[in-house]
Amino acid sequence: MKVSVIGSGYVGLTTGAALASLGNVVQGFDTNQELVESLNEGRLPFYEAGLADLVRAQSAAGRLSFSEEVSRAPVGADLVFICVGTPEAREGGRPDISQVEKAVELIADTVTPRTVVVLKSTVPIGTGDKIALLLSQKSGGLFPADNVAVNPEFLREGSALGDFFQPDRVVLGVEGELAKRRLVELYGWVQAPLVLTDRKTAEAIKYAANAFLATKISFINQIARLCTSLGINAVDVARGIGLDRRIGPDFLEPGVGFGGSCLPKDLAALVFMARAAGARPTLLEAVAEINRSQPEWVISLMEQAMAEKPAPVAVWGLSFKPDTDDTRSSPALALISSLVARGYEVRAYDPMARLGEDPVAAHGEEGRGGRWCRVDSAYDAVAGAHALVLATAWPEFRNADWSRVRRLMAGETPVVVDGRNALEPAALVGHGFVYVSVGRVAGRFAGRAGKQ
Ligand code: UGA
Repeated sequence: MKVSVIGSGYVGLTTGAALASLGNVVQGFDTNQELVESLNEGRLPFYEAGLADLVRAQSAAGRLSFSEEVSRAPVGADLVFICVGTPEAREGGRPDISQVEKAVELIADTVTPRTVVVLKSTVPIGTGDKIALLLSQKSGGLFPADNVAVNPEFLREGSALGDFFQPDRVVLGVEGELAKRRLVELYGWVQAPLVLTDRKTAEAIKYAANAFLATKISFINQIARLCTSLGINAVDVARGIGLDRRIGPDFLEPGVGFGGSCLPKDLAALVFMARAAGARPTLLEAVAEINRSQPEWVISLMEQAMAEKPAPVAVWGLSFKPDTDDTRSSPALALISSLVARGYEVRAYDPMARLGEDPVAAHGEEGRGGRWCRVDSAYDAVAGAHALVLATAWPEFRNADWSRVRRLMAGETPVVVDGRNALEPAALVGHGFVYVSVGRVAGRFAGRAGKQ
């Protein structure tokens, strides 16, 4: 099929390159001319495993190209995907859909009665209907409103291509035959259920999915706090409940909290939409509050273990999870913000993170004399530090030279706070560290991988 993809960020590029590799002819569009030029030269502005190679291979095969002429996206296309960003607007959770509106504005003159427009961006419930009406009106009734579909993405950063090619399900919010036929054909290769529904339900499914994932994480973080108070191993509790098929083992890892460009934003958006609809989203609000306070709880564990404070602290990890350079709403940055606000001197290291301007101030903390800086190696970060907090579980941290870390750190018994339960407690204790974890009690069973 001939597919146009508007928006060449994580979602648009992954979708476009993956669809091209399945034999479709794909043209990617973006208003950012510089980005378009670099993509046509095979250069990506961010890291996503396997994506740069796939983009280059599909471009070389003549199935993928990029253009800044967004208004031409519908020309000759069977499907026009809209994959632009929908960030959180300034005020409390409301999603900003101006980029979607801009894309619609740009294509309004070139859509035909045979064009199918597919919203892949995460959009507030009702946006698909709104866009359908707008396109129909702007085209003087030529474009049928039923030709707008909603097809939410469930791609995790770091494993986006795997998620695209092996989805658990594909959700298609369709109102008319043409949109349904084209999308069912496009996804004909999928070995998972196609969930056919209306546009609004498809939009709600996306928000509910991310809110549920966020709920699982905040739930286990709450349990981890309780387990810490009671001296119980939260990782064993997670395993014990996760083996119940009704609960499932995924997203039950306690940590510093969830971050990224999706879970926090989509949770806030759902809270906003629920309030606007007069429903009281008390559970969702609690999920957000637990996540907001999780880095502070981790800091309180660190402070309990430290002999002297404030003292220099090292933080390992800045990205919101491993295998991505993305630091948007990263819990590691929230943690650094809180440390700086409490007067700590922080040296942070991450192998890949891309930082925006003034990333820590962007988290809204008031500095009280503390400072932070980014350094070029994990060992530079720990030099002279009294405590080390692992905030992102990059594999290189697991394989660190702990004798070297111990020699570089200051104090009698330096503290290691394993904010992702990624390290071996017994080995660290053996090296002379005070080991602190998120709900993993250093006892007989602590750290056991749990296979038996
Ligand atoms: C998330 C969803 O998982 C995708 O399905 C969805 O398509 C995507 O948002 C989106 O809406 O675009 P992503 O933001 O890449 O994907 O990140 P996740 O893998 O979901 O992780 C989110 C955060 O939760 C990370 O900070 C991670 O460290 C944290 N996490 C995850 C935990 O703290 N504990 C867990 O058990 C799992």
